[in-house]
Amino acid sequence: MTSDENAAASPTAATSAEEAPQSMADRSNNRSRRPSSEAFREFMGSNWAPRSSDLPDRSPVADHLAARAAKAGEPFPGERLVVPAGGLKTRNNDTDYRFRAHSAFAHLSGLGGEKEPDAVIVLEPTSSGSHEAILYFKPRSSRSSEEFYADSRYGEFWVGARPSLAEVEAETGLRCADISSLRDALAKDAGQVHLRIVPQVDASVEAVVTEVRQQAGLPFGGDARAEDETLEEHLSEIRLNKDPYELSELRHAVEVTKVGFEDIIASLPRATGHPRGERVIEGAFGAVAREVGNGLGYDTIAAAGNHANTLHWMDNDGEVHAGDLVLIDAGIEVDSLYTADITRTLPVNGHFSEPQAKVYQAVLDAAEAALARANQSNTRFRDVHDAAMTVIADRLEKWGVLPVSAAESLSPSGQQHRRWMPHGTSHHLGLDVHDCAQARREMYQDALLEPGMTFTIEPGLYFRADDLSVPDELRGIGVRIEDDVQVNEDGSVTRISEDIPRTIADVEAWIAAVCSH
Ligand code: GLY
Ligand code: MN
Ligand code: MN
Repeated sequence: MTSDENAAASPTAATSAEEAPQSMADRSNNRSRRPSSEAFREFMGSNWAPRSSDLPDRSPVADHLAARAAKAGEPFPGERLVVPAGGLKTRNNDTDYRFRAHSAFAHLSGLGGEKEPDAVIVLEPTSSGSHEAILYFKPRSSRSSEEFYADSRYGEFWVGARPSLAEVEAETGLRCADISSLRDALAKDAGQVHLRIVPQVDASVEAVVTEVRQQAGLPFGGDARAEDETLEEHLSEIRLNKDPYELSELRHAVEVTKVGFEDIIASLPRATGHPRGERVIEGAFGAVAREVGNGLGYDTIAAAGNHANTLHWMDNDGEVHAGDLVLIDAGIEVDSLYTADITRTLPVNGHFSEPQAKVYQAVLDAAEAALARANQSNTRFRDVHDAAMTVIADRLEKWGVLPVSAAESLSPSGQQHRRWMPHGTSHHLGLDVHDCAQARREMYQDALLEPGMTFTIEPGLYFRADDLSVPDELRGIGVRIEDDVQVNEDGSVTRISEDIPRTIADVEAWIAAVCSH
């Protein structure tokens, strides 16, 4: 990381014996000697070429934002709704994580990538009873400001130029305003206009809302929590049915994730000779994610052999041996922030052994049964899981592994089969890998499948190496197959990851083809 040690040669001020001891907060300036003279400041602010007056193209998402704002505001007529992006988060000392906006903000602003820390969408009630989204953010500062060269967190010299209000208006079609006017905008008519905020995203914006509420005599703090959570819940639920732009971005995320899996396969020969072969796999996928997208939608699981039986294995520091399976759960988040969520379980040497194939086929059959159920009319979200579980329980019974009959295991008072698949079969997918997570149960598990819904089908079987309840040949084998599906307008379901091989023959042929290049 660049230090600003050499930014200038002259010392700022000599420490004299009379000065107060330097505060801890100021200590981080000790590594640098930035000039503070007026002459320097003036010089830094001068002689820069004019900025381009070209405005960016209108983004394809812009056409969908008015409808999203209207939908977001529907249950709250006449109310002002505040949706913060969130701010930069410290990783350690003075180093931040790369910024990624809260998904409710990304949905309503259409902004992706690293845009815009500290921004806020305000859904302003309109006279027609609907809502208009107004985007408040900190626009580009002038080059004559001290921030330009002196602020390593926000300054143009350090992190690049922020966009202007006009540029973001051109890109998103949203009305934009300087964040410095947010407080007044929130306080306007506060006695008459009710205020809600998505909680726990940005403490400083929440503090402003609290202050305005207090002054207007509205409920605040804990007393406003329930109504704020109703907004949070609604913004999660309006993302259950994706619009055409979202559906296409999700398909794109799956397409590029396939490229990532191909690079994983190409990395297998190097992974097998490496003391941390799982990291080789993780790195191969991560490189593609940054090259073609915003990055990973979630941390990659690269789990060889028995590690596959640790469901969230993300240490990825194990060896990868020929003869093992390696379970890889990985997804690329594209620039618009939509992510894929794909799992493939690959034989490292290109061929499944007999016991590996037996487990793999059972999981694949469960996945096909789940997809077939999703394709029937009047299917509820939870039915998809039940269809997969019926296959899993039947197969475990056939293998003599279940201590009870499959029927008994499938009953609510049994469930013994879940020892070998303790996770759910499906979750909604979108801006968050576990999308719409604040939706009510009746809108999620218990809801009928509807056009626009995008979700995963991801059955698995996990036989831990220390599981004495299964035959020796199964111990240490863990398999998950995870695909992403979308519900079409006619109610049929398309597996949008159809092109990523999944049958035993196709996976073996895929590995052979990629490795022969
Ligand atoms: N990758 C997280 C999940 O499959 O749910
Ligand atoms: Mn998943
Ligand atoms: Mn996954």
